[in-house]
Amino acid sequence: MKEKSLMFSLMRERGTNLIDELTTALVNNMRFSDHNVLYPTYGVPKPNEGVRPEWFYDAYKASNGYSELDSIHMYITQEAMFEELGEMMMGVALVEMKHLDKLGDLIMSLGGQVARPGSTESIEYGSSPVEAVHFALSAEQSAVKGYDEIMEKVIALPQNETTRYTLTLLAKLMADERLHIEMFEEWLRENANRRRGDE
Ligand SMILES: [Fe+2]
Ligand SMILES: [Fe+2]
Repeated sequence: MKEKSLMFSLMRERGTNLIDELTTALVNNMRFSDHNVLYPTYGVPKPNEGVRPEWFYDAYKASNGYSELDSIHMYITQEAMFEELGEMMMGVALVEMKHLDKLGDLIMSLGGQVARPGSTESIEYGSSPVEAVHFALSAEQSAVKGYDEIMEKVIALPQNETTRYTLTLLAKLMADERLHIEMFEEWLRENANRRRGDE
């Protein structure tokens, strides 16, 4: 009987986003993400606990050439332009999409706004694979610097559930970006005999 079977069913919590969980598990297990460092799995960040949503607007989608949105656009464009970079750029872009997703959720939880204007005008794609990876590397380095600055601000606040969640998320984002830096540096080392403008 339907009612009886329901009694024994393990029901998912209302409001659980199964695709969110699936894609988090997916990117955690890809070689393009640092699977030793995980996304926060506890608590919900709240407004008015010190962490300001505006601190994350630039990292989320500013037109600066290295925000999460700009990075995604850069990598999928480079993936289309340079066949030999395809797998690496697509893999990294998927991880950046999860970063964008988690930052968006954080901004909303903190009482901020995600529906903001943006443009991809500041992105530089490069005219060769080597130049493309140099631009990608530079974007990752800027992203780490930006997250590091936010982390300093959060560390200076009195501790609470929101600061703990935010610091764990920032640690995860920075671990992934550092892995991307290593991957791009390794690719450049392996292709060191090719000049930036070469085909
Ligand atoms: Fe990212
Ligand atoms: Fe990255």
